[in-house]
Amino acid sequence: MDAKDRLVVALDISDLQSACLRAELLRSQVGMFKIGPRLYTAHGPAAVKEVQTRGGIFLDLKYHDIPTTVEDASREAVNLRVDMFTVHCLGGTEMMRAARRGVKASPWTAPGGRPKVLGATILTSHDYNSLRRHGLVKGVHDVFDRVNWGPEDEAQRRFERSEVISRVIELAKEARDAGLDGVVVPPDAIRVVQEECGPNFLIVAVGIRQPGTNSHDHTSTMTPREAIGAGADYVVAGRPIIESHDPVGVTRWMIEEIAAAMAERR
Ligand code: C5P
Repeated sequence: MDAKDRLVVALDISDLQSACLRAELLRSQVGMFKIGPRLYTAHGPAAVKEVQTRGGIFLDLKYHDIPTTVEDASREAVNLRVDMFTVHCLGGTEMMRAARRGVKASPWTAPGGRPKVLGATILTSHDYNSLRRHGLVKGVHDVFDRVNWGPEDEAQRRFERSEVISRVIELAKEARDAGLDGVVVPPDAIRVVQEECGPNFLIVAVGIRQPGTNSHDHTSTMTPREAIGAGADYVVAGRPIIESHDPVGVTRWMIEEIAAAMAERR
């Protein structure tokens, strides 16, 4: 894969014309565009078809429903010829297996083969307290010493974050065991998820930022170089690019960062 193929631009915009303008502007630089609930709810399959003429499609609707519904929805995602799509890991093993069945049963394949099914683990906007309210963190796990903590992090924050990352790891392993192709994770979970799930399991990282810029609602962020260096296969960036006054410049910087990390990995 070239550096550009590893960058996914999230088109989190409701207006299809604006989304297409941005995709047109970036099509020579970017391998894939992510379509989420916002653009899809506004324009449906037409959004996929329009953007598809400008690059690959990552359909990020995070299916979370009964297995039979998710199996059928997955078949429809294949019919749209997307390259990747998401289900939510919290839907459980049976639901994730159903998504895979839906893909395998479909007679259609995307140009690059069947779409990759990714599991959304924990949204990076969640912190320890929001997960605890839903009973989604349990006890101390062994990742505490295995995450690259910065020197400024104090013990309580580290403890809470390691609990969140432990949950990400459990969901990622469940997704792998259910036959999914990979997972979407926050940046600080990249390295440990790869260690736990192995090199053939795709890791897609969100929370990608330029140093010192607005992290918005992410509790964990990394530069593209850090994320690819930690083991991510793809990095997703939305607002840093689509809300920038210089989207081409930011994209170019991200591609250079990815290329540098790939060279360092070799
Ligand atoms: O923050 P940015 O605009 O780069 O977000 C890119 C993608 O990351 C979004 O489309 C969303 O799916 C995902 N995201 C997330 N957790 C957040 C914020 C965004 O998983 N807190």
